Amino acid sequence: MGWASDKGQASIPQVRLGNGVMMPVLGFGTYGLRGDVCMESVADAITAGYRLIDTAKVYQNEEAVGAGIKKSGIDRKSLFVTSKIWVEDAGYEPAKRAFQTTLDKLQLEYLDLYLIHRPRGDVNGSWRAMEELNTAGKIKAIGLSNFDQTQLSSLTAGAKTKPAINQLETHPFLQETGELESLRTAGVQMEAWAPFAEGRNGLFTNPVLEQIGKKHGKTVAQTVLRWHHQRGVIAIPRSSNPEHRRENLAIFDFKLDADDMHKISALDENRSQFPEWT
Ligand SMILES: NC(=O)c1ccc[n+]([C@@H]2O[C@H](COP(=O)([O-])OP(=O)(O)OC[C@H]3O[C@@H](n4cnc5c(N)ncnc54)[C@H](OP(=O)(O)O)[C@@H]3O)[C@@H](O)[C@H]2O)c1
Repeated sequence: MGWASDKGQASIPQVRLGNGVMMPVLGFGTYGLRGDVCMESVADAITAGYRLIDTAKVYQNEEAVGAGIKKSGIDRKSLFVTSKIWVEDAGYEPAKRAFQTTLDKLQLEYLDLYLIHRPRGDVNGSWRAMEELNTAGKIKAIGLSNFDQTQLSSLTAGAKTKPAINQLETHPFLQETGELESLRTAGVQMEAWAPFAEGRNGLFTNPVLEQIGKKHGKTVAQTVLRWHHQRGVIAIPRSSNPEHRRENLAIFDFKLDADDMHKISALDENRSQFPEWT
């Protein structure tokens, strides 16, 4: 696993995952986007420069995401597409069936990354199915989402393949610094969901983030995404606004200094902004 340098890169930098697969460090989230809005948003995100697209069965938008990819006309090989197994599909056979349905809906021949969405049900059975699909080349990398250290260790204890990713709720109000360190030690890349906390807790008007952004001539959104990047965390912000989508890509031409990072560290409240989901 290695975090690529930004130097001299016009496009989005990539990180090498534990299994050698390269993944963009910034992507486009699609939770809550449906139908034509989703299709147009995905197509435009790709046109704007995003190469990592994050969806899930439970978002009920895999068909629209697939249509957006088609509409963009992008070469499939330059895209990195992630989807996730929902709880009802936990287990060896259900996971295999769910994967094929996901692939069909997305109109793709393979996925770049497939995650177990939540640590519920027969996740060991799901993992065996994912390992086989990985070996068969149908999934380039396999990983987890919302697993704590105990759940991750219990899954990997009997597994042949180490997870490439753990996708967790992470933003300035829930920084998960301990998880980040443990995952780094284990060679598992951390990915942030809700990198803006969906704007909850006043994120976009937070005075500390506003002041740091102003100092660099950047917005709060760009400041937060740059903070994720400098911590070595992949972020997948979602936006239905074309200007926001472009704004969120412009984070590779400035650097937060130690004082900025320290001030953002102090915003950690160590609590989820989505208690309704746990
Ligand atoms: N694994 C999991 O359990 C899990 C759970 C939740 C989400 N996810 C993934 O993570 C992705 C990101 O999380 P999320 O969608 O929940 O929330 P998010 O990316 O933290 O926040 C999205 C919100 O931020 C706003 N926004 C985006 N860019 C902005 C900008 N430059 N300025 C001002 N506002 C801006 C958007 O509004 P506009 O549309 O108006 O720009 C939207 O309301 C999801 O889409 C999904 O792919 C995974």
